[in-house]
Amino acid sequence: MLTVLFAAPTVWTEFAPHLRTALTEAGIAATLVQDASPGAVDYIVYAPSSPLQDFTPYTRCKAVLSLWAGVERIVGNATLTQPLCRMVDPALTEGMVEWVVGHTLRHHLGLDRHIVNPTRVWDPTCPPLARERAVTVLGLGELGAACGRALAALNFPVTGWSRTARAVPGLDCLHGETGLAQALSRAAVLITLLPKTPETENLLDAARLALMPRDAVILNPGRGALIDDDALLAALNAERIGHATLDVFRVEPLPPGHPYWTHPRVTVTPHIAADTRPASSARVIAENIRRAETGAPLLHLVDRARGY
Ligand code: NDP
Ligand code: OXD
Repeated sequence: MLTVLFAAPTVWTEFAPHLRTALTEAGIAATLVQDASPGAVDYIVYAPSSPLQDFTPYTRCKAVLSLWAGVERIVGNATLTQPLCRMVDPALTEGMVEWVVGHTLRHHLGLDRHIVNPTRVWDPTCPPLARERAVTVLGLGELGAACGRALAALNFPVTGWSRTARAVPGLDCLHGETGLAQALSRAAVLITLLPKTPETENLLDAARLALMPRDAVILNPGRGALIDDDALLAALNAERIGHATLDVFRVEPLPPGHPYWTHPRVTVTPHIAADTRPASSARVIAENIRRAETGAPLLHLVDRARGY
């Protein structure tokens, strides 16, 4: 009988029944617990808010399975020597696609003009077609590629950018520093779906924001640290960037006095772009435990050196 430690106390109630079912369906005999003697634990299901920070005593643990897609808060933990898997949950991806498409269409169609129109202006300006609005997605991983494909299916010309060369059907895929300059210079709408790593921190600084077309819109569901906040505020104040819709921040919850809250060109959403969904993510975790127990390679293994 395996012992699976659920080290994510705040979401125990919603996840535990799904995990138990998924483990049973995968044919795994396991006890799912919130507390156990470290030496008896076979697997750890983990969230960054967990009080568990020292993995040294978990000598029998075969893998740490993150409930989160982004692993920047655990990847550098020197006590973690066990394999670390991040969350790739089909329902999380679905949620991210919906958030990104929804917010892209908001700006593309100029929906705000009609939803908030206190002076009853009859402005018959018709929005352009999607084919006339270039979108760039930074990050072509699980989420960036899915969002890029969904936007391309709506006829937006989509440029994607990643660290290594990628091919996503329907997207013009670029990489490297020159690729980034090209991708930014096209971006009437920019979507940032990169992980937070030392290489991506402040990637969107003043110089790179200046490469973007005037009035471009930025959607950031990736991580707050991807953007230099002062540079973004300066570009918004100078009316060079049209709008920023931000889901993630350096400090969360976003402090009440932060200028983003009241900026007329900023929309704040409270890190809700895409949640890990209990039922589908439980199946992903159970499948990884099944793999580890049968000697198959783990899915969604994090590359510690790369940081994601
Ligand atoms: P993946 O690991 O699947 O993809 C990451 C992508 O970023 C890859 O294409 C990778 O390039 C690219 N990348 C990484 N570093 C660099 C770099 N230095 N330069 C250029 N490209 C780089 O991650 P996901 O798509 O699953 O998730 C992306 C991020 O979304 C997460 O890390 C997390 O921060 C965020 N997220 C936010 C949520 C929310 O609710 N707001 C929910 C879930 C995730 P390559 O392909 O070459 O490796
Ligand atoms: C995640 C997130 O990384 O919710 O899963 O941001």
